[in-house]
Amino acid sequence: MYKDKNKAHIRTENQYKEEYKKSVENHDLFWSEKANRLNWYKEWDRISDIDFEKAHIKWFEGAKLNASYNCIDRHIENGDGDKCAIIWEGNNPNEDKHYTYNQLLEEVSAFANVLKSNNIKKGDRVCIYLPMVPELAVAVLACARVGAIHSVVFAGFSSSALSARINDASCKMILTSDGSFRGNKIIDLKSIVDEALKDCDCVDSVIVLNRINSGITLNKNEKWWNDELDKVDDYFPAEIMDSEDPLFILYTSGSTGKPKGMVHSSGGYMVYTAYSFKNVFDYDDDDIYWCTADIGWITGHSYIVYGPLLNGATTMMFEGVPSYPDFGRFWEICEKHKVNQFYTAPTAIRALAKHPLDFVNKYDLSSLKVLGTVGEPINEEAWNWYNENIGKNKCPIVDTWWQTETGGIMITSLANVTKGKPTFATKPMMGIQPVLFDENGNEFDENNKNGILGIKYPWPSIARTIYGDHERYKNVYFSAYPGYYFPGDGAFRDEEGNYRITGRVDDVVIVSGHNLGTAPIEDVINMHDNVVESALVGYPHDIKGNALYAFVILKDDSKKDDINSEINQLISKSIGPIAKPEKIQLVPGLPKTRSGKIMRRILRKIACGEKDNFGDISTLLNPEIVEQIVKGS
Ligand code: PRX
Repeated sequence: MYKDKNKAHIRTENQYKEEYKKSVENHDLFWSEKANRLNWYKEWDRISDIDFEKAHIKWFEGAKLNASYNCIDRHIENGDGDKCAIIWEGNNPNEDKHYTYNQLLEEVSAFANVLKSNNIKKGDRVCIYLPMVPELAVAVLACARVGAIHSVVFAGFSSSALSARINDASCKMILTSDGSFRGNKIIDLKSIVDEALKDCDCVDSVIVLNRINSGITLNKNEKWWNDELDKVDDYFPAEIMDSEDPLFILYTSGSTGKPKGMVHSSGGYMVYTAYSFKNVFDYDDDDIYWCTADIGWITGHSYIVYGPLLNGATTMMFEGVPSYPDFGRFWEICEKHKVNQFYTAPTAIRALAKHPLDFVNKYDLSSLKVLGTVGEPINEEAWNWYNENIGKNKCPIVDTWWQTETGGIMITSLANVTKGKPTFATKPMMGIQPVLFDENGNEFDENNKNGILGIKYPWPSIARTIYGDHERYKNVYFSAYPGYYFPGDGAFRDEEGNYRITGRVDDVVIVSGHNLGTAPIEDVINMHDNVVESALVGYPHDIKGNALYAFVILKDDSKKDDINSEINQLISKSIGPIAKPEKIQLVPGLPKTRSGKIMRRILRKIACGEKDNFGDISTLLNPEIVEQIVKGS
């Protein structure tokens, strides 16, 4: 069955209000209706089975479906086989490719056969470490087709970050390329993989795409992507999966310890991403939609691949960077492909707004209908620049708040339906019930007040667990406020019920839209032979939103000449260049409570440039240190 595609499309604010009411009063009925937009081999036995406190969440149990079938075959059966599914724009201008749904089916089926011929079966984990090439989307969908669980690792992560993720999920296979293009740089991805694999016994097969014609020789037992494709048929019938079978694992940083492998389900994830994509972006059948994220992050999973393809949309993926060959690249691509919906990160907007408007104005942006942002709060200046210069004051801007854990957009305006408000994500999506808590953990109803955000009832795309560690999942997200999901963000609610996200309330810092836990980075800094202790905090940064500031105590001050570059190298090697601090200050000590806890609140103020006003510091173990740190800042 392929029900009326546009039936779930909300067109008016009243309709939003009615649908929202229905979604919270009768979630099961609401989500089962939305689920009917997908193709199921078998209907569910039960719509939802929820015990929030135990983090026991199931949707559409007993139902059977396949994600790749729903993203591709279903549209072909509906007569849309010749419609463009993916437009790929390369790093180098003048390199692009178009894939119709028919072609996508061939590519995905063929690669599913490659997975099978390399012993990948339902439930196996496959690590994908690829640049933004079409084969990345194909690999993701091929895994879904055979029922393997994909774990995409952003191709900017280092070899140790990669090996930690491969080992955590015991991946049997890694898919990678000989290298990647990024602006005017060439990155040697394959040596990063070689290094990582020295520590990974679980990997049986390595399949390598020739992206940069590097001419490298593969190691024993490794295979070239195209050689494997030459050996297989090009049809693979989609595997029948249970709604609650995991579709993928995606890692996100935590405030402490190792990264968390968030496990997403098949059925609920698809129902929610399909529905939210359509309505948030007001997607109409012939629109060209472009999200500039990397598929290595959740935004790319949900709103480059699954959400758009589930709707039979035309989705674009871009291999390059906004600054290459110049700062007009995004707008050149918008003109070239007549993009209708454009979705990016505030950090990119801020970076581009620093450059002359000529980079924007030489392109025809009249195709644009809807703009979006994601990943961090957007400041008013950046919002205005985006609205005036890109949207020409006629495109609604959807500021979408959500997380790797939530799977889909949670708080947002709906383009052309509900009102946006600069710097506010605004209203909850259907089925999402945000609440605010005060510092004592009491829920409050007053408006015009800051609080800590909680979510009252599960929605279909919430992650089901942390891979291999359900206890941690329960503790991190469900124990702070029993009966609620705790996202770790603060929020402000205005008199109309609009939410503005005010930032993290834990030790996670959002740098250029990337979610970085401070503790794992401190652990790396502390590995340096000459470091006694370190503390890392975030501080506001013009372009990145936040940047990292490291306070470091050395064992031997006479050996400090190369310390900054050595620390940066260690971090690049262990985590990746995105985690490098903007500033490193060598300090004689760190402010500590009598129980030995670092007072990060004070360090945050110093990082922000405060010289005094630290409140009562007399209870500190070492109050005199504060002045010394301020002097050196
Ligand atoms: O702090 C919030 C911020 O990004 C965090 C989630 O990061 P990640 O899991 O990497 O997912 C990013 C892409 C969905 C959130 O806890 N964040 C995300 N979107 C917004 C935001 N902060 C403010 N406004 C947003 N629109």
